[in-house]
Amino acid sequence: MTEKLLLSALQGKVTRRTPFWFMRQAGRYLPEYRELRAQKGGFLNLVYDPLAACEITMQPIRRFGMDGAILFSDILVIPQALGQSLEFTAGEGPQLGDLNIASLNPARIHETLSPIYETVSNIRASLKTEGFHHTALIGFAGSPWTLACYMIQGQGSKDFGKAKHFALQNPAQFNALLDIILEATIAYLSAQVKAGAEALQLFESWASMADTKGFEDWIIKPTARIVTALRTLHPQTPIIGFPKGAGAMLGRYATETGVQGLGIDSLTPLNWAAEQAPGLALQGNLDPWVLAAGGEAMESRALAILNSMKNHPFIFNLGHGIDKSTPVEHVETLSRIIKEFR
Ligand code: CP3
Repeated sequence: MTEKLLLSALQGKVTRRTPFWFMRQAGRYLPEYRELRAQKGGFLNLVYDPLAACEITMQPIRRFGMDGAILFSDILVIPQALGQSLEFTAGEGPQLGDLNIASLNPARIHETLSPIYETVSNIRASLKTEGFHHTALIGFAGSPWTLACYMIQGQGSKDFGKAKHFALQNPAQFNALLDIILEATIAYLSAQVKAGAEALQLFESWASMADTKGFEDWIIKPTARIVTALRTLHPQTPIIGFPKGAGAMLGRYATETGVQGLGIDSLTPLNWAAEQAPGLALQGNLDPWVLAAGGEAMESRALAILNSMKNHPFIFNLGHGIDKSTPVEHVETLSRIIKEFR
């Protein structure tokens, strides 16, 4: 059996070659993605089409041979499955409808989400039939705080001020919202594992919006509950937490949530992160804009990352998602640099 290096790293092993994948590795920088999206008439139509979503997941794997294939979906399908309306209008990002916490129903999420489980099993089958035996299938979800930010704010925001106001002024209702999201997330991720996901990532994209007390209550505690529940249901399935912008709270996230892997953003030194996170695999952290720019700056920074982590359980990734302006050749070059590094 071919060793899946990404899973070995998440078991705490230093691997013979550094496994890699890139956040947003499927998406608009790829012409074959743009073509299929135009055909299907929009992003959410792709997400809920198990054949199209599988195809899109496979597109970057065929080009670059990553060690991780991340399910093509979005974190905002959970609010939608709970009953809040969701739209993606081209160029504007997500728009969510009015939030009515009392009407959210975690018991019914699978009615909306079952096509995504079908996508997961399609991807597992495609990886096998297309011969990508070294590639692990990564499922994912948004973490409760980040999802609550979008659900209350209704859209992306520079400060998520409305969401923070709500959290601070209505703690009981806010905690009820976090509990609903948490329950849905456990059921959703467990279903992804049953359908074939081999590792899971929790995206806490807006960790930087909390203060230190909020970070404990809204980020660490709910994440720990999700991780505990999933590790009980699926003890073999490692979980990567990605608290983007956690800063000096990173160590507490690492030691108190129970995750096996830690996603690192581009402004956090990897060596410092390793000291904060004893026993955990690290994943990161090339700036996506360095990838977009390419050239010598990209090569030297990529090699610096690889060298600094060569004796540590490590998965090469970006510090955030690939930008749509990124030339495909840069992704090709970076993939080759990582694969050839020893
Ligand atoms: O990484 C992958 O290749 C897997 C697919 C994936 C998408 N979104 C596809 C997507 C994943 C893992 C996500 C996670 C996600 N979605 C996050 C967490 C990671 C992060 O970026 O911080 C967040 C915050 C979202 C919410 C979201 N989805 C926003 C704010 C937007 C609009 C911004 C943008 O880039 O257009 C999306 C849309 C989205 N999600 C696209 C893709 C490929 C672009 C849709 C399109 O126009 O084709």
